[in-house]
Amino acid sequence: MAQTTAVLINHSSSDAIADFVLKQGNGVKGLSEIGLKNLPKQYIQPLEEIISEAKIMPQASIPIIDMSELDGPAAEESVCRAAEKWGFFQIINHGVPIEVLENVKEATHRFFRLPAEEKRKYLKEFSPSNNVRFGTSFSPEVEKALEWKDYLSLFYVSEDEASALWPSVCRDQVLDYMRRSEIVIRRLLDVLMKNLKVIEIDGTKESLLMGSKRINLNYYPICPKPELTVGIGRHSDVSTLTVLLQDDVGGLYVRGDDDYWIHVPPVDGSLVINVGDALQIMSNGRYKSVEHCVMTDGSKNRISQFPFSSTQGHQTRYLLFVKYWQAARRRCIRKFCTRITSSISSERHMMGRKQLISLG
Ligand code: OGA
Ligand code: NI
Repeated sequence: MAQTTAVLINHSSSDAIADFVLKQGNGVKGLSEIGLKNLPKQYIQPLEEIISEAKIMPQASIPIIDMSELDGPAAEESVCRAAEKWGFFQIINHGVPIEVLENVKEATHRFFRLPAEEKRKYLKEFSPSNNVRFGTSFSPEVEKALEWKDYLSLFYVSEDEASALWPSVCRDQVLDYMRRSEIVIRRLLDVLMKNLKVIEIDGTKESLLMGSKRINLNYYPICPKPELTVGIGRHSDVSTLTVLLQDDVGGLYVRGDDDYWIHVPPVDGSLVINVGDALQIMSNGRYKSVEHCVMTDGSKNRISQFPFSSTQGHQTRYLLFVKYWQAARRRCIRKFCTRITSSISSERHMMGRKQLISLG
């Protein structure tokens, strides 16, 4: 049966594959599981999206920070320097119990293991709410080349809504992880703001910083030709801060100097933190929202979960507008915003990607 489907898919038109992946709810996980030998052509990415061996800096690594020392000045200093220089760091002893992390990983597998008919209920067309969305790639309707990734995106409004609408196979574990990671985000933001001399964070400032809450569960299935595609193409996040929990497969790369890339190795029990566009802009470019991407694996399925706090829709639009306006006029106003436009080369991509999220 799987064999027949594989033969059919291998010889199928793009429409038949889109139907199988998108409409029937099989996702790329479904494609992967029928044992394709070749990558369907819509997943073949332009060369510049692929991180080849030659572009990786093997000796470089982003900092690993021990949060149990965060009440002391040395660890605070490490957090701020890492956010300024790399825009990315890993944290250990962060206070989120290992059990909570393991439970959310298991819950993620449980969700993606559901039969296509079940996951399909959360596709854009059928989902009971915009706040719960199962999908594949990033925005398959408009992308030229698709990404080898399925996801479940959950926007948090209230406990009641989550109880009523989120998939029950993962809801409680995701909520637990979200609550715990929010404490981590708040602590880090306190430190990062203090460094900018923003000492008193009142309710309004806090809600601006913490913004809205979303969690994404990502699934990157085994890929028949990992050298031809990506799990997620290069991009930066619109968020304030993103917390990422990855499993032990690896594949996340962060952009370093001169278009070289740095691998973020899985570290047991750690969380990866990155600065998003909103925080780069709020800090006037002091903290960097750095491009990153995910390469796929030829022998292992990978999962990741990341809750992120982002500014509310209209604020994000405003912030992005400011960023693009400044980017467009960077030569004229270089004096004011040299730092803010540091990741100009990613602008093309972000315009394509981020506007889809924030404007649409
Ligand atoms: C993202 C992202 C990284 C990962 O979805 O924005 O960067 O490892 N994910 O899944
Ligand atoms: Ni990202």
